[in-house]
Amino acid sequence: MELKGAVAVVTGGASGIGESVAKSLAAKGAKVVIGDMDPKGMERVASEIAAAGGEVAWAKCNVTSDEDVADLMDLAIAKFGRLNVCVASAGIIKDGLMLNVDRETGKVKKAMTTEQFRAVIDVNLVGAFITLREAALRMVNNGWQGVLIPISSVNKAGQVGQMNYSSAKAALALWPKIIVGEFQARGIQNIRCVAIAPGYVGTPMVRGMNQEALAGLLKGVHIGRLIEPSEIADSIVYTVQNDAIDATCLEITGGLIANGLAK
Ligand SMILES: NC(=O)c1ccc[n+]([C@@H]2O[C@H](COP(=O)([O-])OP(=O)(O)OC[C@H]3O[C@@H](n4cnc5c(N)ncnc54)[C@H](O)[C@@H]3O)[C@@H](O)[C@H]2O)c1
Repeated sequence: MELKGAVAVVTGGASGIGESVAKSLAAKGAKVVIGDMDPKGMERVASEIAAAGGEVAWAKCNVTSDEDVADLMDLAIAKFGRLNVCVASAGIIKDGLMLNVDRETGKVKKAMTTEQFRAVIDVNLVGAFITLREAALRMVNNGWQGVLIPISSVNKAGQVGQMNYSSAKAALALWPKIIVGEFQARGIQNIRCVAIAPGYVGTPMVRGMNQEALAGLLKGVHIGRLIEPSEIADSIVYTVQNDAIDATCLEITGGLIANGLAK
């Protein structure tokens, strides 16, 4: 897909991966619309994109709201005339063990609450569903060429302490096969879907993690460091431009070797 002149909606674009994706797409000539819960962050990102010569708009949007998300897509169309790329990057973590058992007493001292489980599913899974559905239905009804990008995670493999998060991310990794399979069944060939599963990226989300646990996780990363948000953004830009990448989940991890030998 030609990015110059394409219109892209990026949720979670006020920070981290979403911010970097919005900036990278704009730098390639795409017109970008950012949706996020953080107006200050969006204002900053939008002014940085505009200062670099990019075209950008933003709106406060809670991805768990059908209405907010529909309004965001309609803003993109009203402002820039169409919609071609949708990157669903809004996400949260609320980590914890299902049962945190006291090592001394052997009794449960804390459990993951239903609210803690549900909040992550709501934003990361239901929110991504609403986002991609609202983008896709406008692409289909208007015959626009499109690319849908859910952001999964390497933790789709099942991260201890992230029962809520891993559940959502495992589901997202399956969506390209389902969505593209549905398009194929209806003869829709001009809209692709590719999930991106990053490893550990240096964003506020990761800086908010338990840093001891993070240091342990990085021991299994071949490049031995956090990935830069721009490295994920570059991969997304390339994915959007390359029509051969479709119906799959790309892992971009810096070489995460689950069973690698410790250094
Ligand atoms: N950072 C990593 O290592 C990593 C790894 C794998 C996957 N991911 C995924 O990448 C995506 C972006 O993560 P990040 O690291 O950039 O996080 P981040 O915290 O820097 O950015 C997330 C953004 O989502 C926004 N957001 C949260 N809830 C929202 C809601 N209900 N509606 C709209 N916006 C909302 C936040 O305001 C924030 O701007 C997430 O889906 C995350 O799960 C991140």
